[in-house]
Amino acid sequence: MTDEAIRFENVTVEAGGDEILRGVSGSVGRGRVAAIIGPSGAGKSSLLSLCNMLRSPSSGKVYVLGREVREWDVRSLRRQVGMVFQAATIFPGTVEQNLAYGLRLHGQVLSDAGSLLEDIGLSRDLLGRKAEDLSGGQKQRVALGRVLAMEPEILLLDEVTSALDVHAKQEVERTILHLHEKLRATLFWVTHDLAQAKRVADDIWFMAEGRLIEVGSTASFFAAPSSDEARAFLEQMTEEMEQ
Ligand SMILES: Nc1ncnc2c1ncn2[C@@H]1O[C@H](COP(=O)(O)OP(=O)(O)OP(=O)(O)O)[C@@H](O)[C@H]1O
Ligand SMILES: [Mg+2]
Repeated sequence: MTDEAIRFENVTVEAGGDEILRGVSGSVGRGRVAAIIGPSGAGKSSLLSLCNMLRSPSSGKVYVLGREVREWDVRSLRRQVGMVFQAATIFPGTVEQNLAYGLRLHGQVLSDAGSLLEDIGLSRDLLGRKAEDLSGGQKQRVALGRVLAMEPEILLLDEVTSALDVHAKQEVERTILHLHEKLRATLFWVTHDLAQAKRVADDIWFMAEGRLIEVGSTASFFAAPSSDEARAFLEQMTEEMEQ
């Protein structure tokens, strides 16, 4: 088994006549937390979506757990690679049904919904509650719980706290990190919140205009980014925060 959870080799993606990813190469080690940052339209979500075959490369290779994505059976791939989006995915029904939904698609049952609920920081009393009635932060944790019930090796997170207020954001972030420690899953986490990237990530992937401009340890990236693009981006984000 490889030490790499994800590997991109010279990946290009074309869509609508444009190259939305251009020659991306890089890898994420198993068990690491890598944050993807960069301006809007940089290709962050597109890069994530290659990892569970929501999108396929136009050229180049994407390896997940050592196997090229197109050689995976998509269902098995998506079982190993969970994804959570900015808007919590909630289905009609109870919290318990929502938690069990992913496993059910794989013909399995969720044996202990109560302890899963506690793992994601919610009270067991919520099991029978209609999922639509939960708060935004609670819904996002249920969406996370549904993915975690599958015990994925890799968790793709796309701006999962952007729609939440400060308090809910911190709780969801803490829940994700707690589960990361427990499951040792690899996290590939798009965020536009630089303070969050600093708190959670081992490595930073900085993207702009479809390219992976630089990858570095979180400490070295924020202390001294090596590219002009990243320096300009950090300055601009700092100015926006101070306004
Ligand atoms: N299906 C598509 N057809 C054409 N262009 C697309 C398609 N999907 C995405 N794009 C373009 O690809 C580029 C990258 O999009 P992507 O969603 O990956 O960016 P992002 O970095 O996640 O941005 P944001 O921070 O706003 O979420 C954008 O310019 C977008 O308009
Ligand atoms: Mg995006």
